[in-house]
Amino acid sequence: MEERIVSGESHEQEDWEERSLRPQNLTQYIGQKKVKENLTVFIEAAKMREETLDHVLLYGPPGLGKTTLSMIIANEMGVNLRTTSGPAIERPGDLAAILTALEPGDVLFIDEIHRLNRAVEEVLYPAMEDFCLDIVIGSGPTARSVRLDLPPFTLVGATTRAGMLSAPLRDRFGVVSRLEYYTHEELTEIVERTAEIMEVSIVFEAAVEIARRSRGTPRIANRLLRRVRDFAQVRGTGDIDLSITKTALELLQVDELGLDEIDQKLILNIIEKFRGGPVGLDTIAATIGEESHTIEDVYEPYLLQIGFLQRTPRGRIVTIQAYEHFHLEVPEQ
Ligand code: ADE
Repeated sequence: MEERIVSGESHEQEDWEERSLRPQNLTQYIGQKKVKENLTVFIEAAKMREETLDHVLLYGPPGLGKTTLSMIIANEMGVNLRTTSGPAIERPGDLAAILTALEPGDVLFIDEIHRLNRAVEEVLYPAMEDFCLDIVIGSGPTARSVRLDLPPFTLVGATTRAGMLSAPLRDRFGVVSRLEYYTHEELTEIVERTAEIMEVSIVFEAAVEIARRSRGTPRIANRLLRRVRDFAQVRGTGDIDLSITKTALELLQVDELGLDEIDQKLILNIIEKFRGGPVGLDTIAATIGEESHTIEDVYEPYLLQIGFLQRTPRGRIVTIQAYEHFHLEVPEQ
């Protein structure tokens, strides 16, 4: 029963490779300089005072290392990590069960924290603020409220957009950090690090090529590296050079900017069906057969970042840069 809502050990379902690829401490963690610098100080200070670390909210597009950072925080603080997610906690009782099972100082990681329902959120407020639970016993005129003390803990919440969190919940985090897309240099370093752990040899130019096509996202970089490694193993010598990398990425339909099939479909649909926009998010979602929130959380942030898409009050607009990238003529206004 408990397995459903909380996982004690870090991600049993992931294979050992995935786990060992993740950096274990802040020194091994590449990129996110500001977040890293701040966390280093806050962790050090909490340890010096022998206190639990204040609650941390991590937000930003998927794949930038929110889960990894929660593991690192627990590791650096020398405490257990409990992992769960917003949608997994259905009832206030589910959350109470998780909170009462914590040991002093533990890190509780709630992924997709914006998806907690209102009733569960209400239980979380006093837990975060005063480390206690207010439980109502009985019903009707005999109902009474009992206060239960909890061990002090650190909540690490992760969300793709901080704006999706209710203000009272957001205000209860002492540390709020936004994760940014990684630079090509940082991603190159990550690809080289991962290749070393996987014991595969890769030339620098190939690592750069994978980095350039990873949409600023380590998760994508590591995924592409695995696929390129497959091609190198089956079609080549096993070593990763630039030529096998380019061939593999072409076959994977990842273009020079890292745009995949869905990114391309999204942009080309707006161009072909709506003359470049403006067009509403729900309309785009319906025409390409993806969920609106997936587009908003997963695809759009990077397209906005590289300036291919603009958000306006009347809807999304494709920019001239996007037309140029796809070698298409910009329509007359
Ligand atoms: N693997 C995935 N993300 C990483 C990061 N930020 N630093 C080092 N290795 C990683």
